[in-house]
Amino acid sequence: MSETAIQVRDLTKTFGGKSRLFGGASHEVKALTKISIDLKKGETLAVVGESGSGKSTLARILVGLDTPTSGMIEIAGQTAEALRKEGPKAFGKTVQYVFQDPVASLNPRKTIAQILDTPLALLAGYASAERKRRMRELMHAVDMPEEALERYPHEMSGGQAQRMAIARALAAEPEILVLDEPVSALDVSVQAQVLLLLQKLKDDLGLSYLFISHDLAVVEAIADRVAVMHFGEIVELEEAGRLFREPVHPYTQKLIRSAPRIAR
Ligand SMILES: Nc1ncnc2c1ncn2[C@@H]1O[C@H](COP(=O)(O)OP(=O)(O)O)[C@@H](O)[C@H]1O
Ligand SMILES: [Mg+2]
Repeated sequence: MSETAIQVRDLTKTFGGKSRLFGGASHEVKALTKISIDLKKGETLAVVGESGSGKSTLARILVGLDTPTSGMIEIAGQTAEALRKEGPKAFGKTVQYVFQDPVASLNPRKTIAQILDTPLALLAGYASAERKRRMRELMHAVDMPEEALERYPHEMSGGQAQRMAIARALAAEPEILVLDEPVSALDVSVQAQVLLLLQKLKDDLGLSYLFISHDLAVVEAIADRVAVMHFGEIVELEEAGRLFREPVHPYTQKLIRSAPRIAR
């Protein structure tokens, strides 16, 4: 069995192309240039970088919401192409995602029970009675009361809604979570609680996390290894403690110097 949850080789993503309106002038954006990373099983690999460095583009490609321009991706031993060919469910059963804005990422017209029901039925494949039981288990797993199953997303705080987005991701019983700025929209005290929850879930369920953040204090709290992204390229990839102690690349050094909450 493979020790690698996600393998990425020479991943490139270009947006746009030659403009037919402006005499063929190119308005290409190279969001990712030859990215290569491995997410090991059971680890939390953080991807850090400033806004616009390509982090979300990477996240969207890894969960199947977008396709690369070139390069190779293997997720839990299967190529992204193979997963795509297998059908719309194949990606979702293997890798799930949690994005920044929890309220916007949950359907406002559905209760939490209805939101959880879909992945439990379609991705995890539970029959109706089992889905009710699994819903209660998921609520316990994310430290939410069962009563919240009947609530709507807008009736919750940001932290509660993000717990529900995490529960929805777990409902599919994936091996891997891609978390794109999962605590960036939350107050600092709530951030700490959600990070602790994510850590506990990872240990309990044996998950692997690709954890994207622009916030080095958050990354320091949760990451085993850190990949530093700059203009669509990985400029440094190192074990977290080492990276914060002895950053090698000038851009990493600059990021760490300008981070307000890092313990140095
Ligand atoms: N759908 C898109 N179409 C065109 N350009 C895009 C699209 N998505 C992202 N980009 C561009 O790609 C670059 C990386 O964006 P993004 O991946 O969102 O960065 P980050 O998440 O690190 O802030 C930016 O220059 C952004 O404007
Ligand atoms: Mg982003």
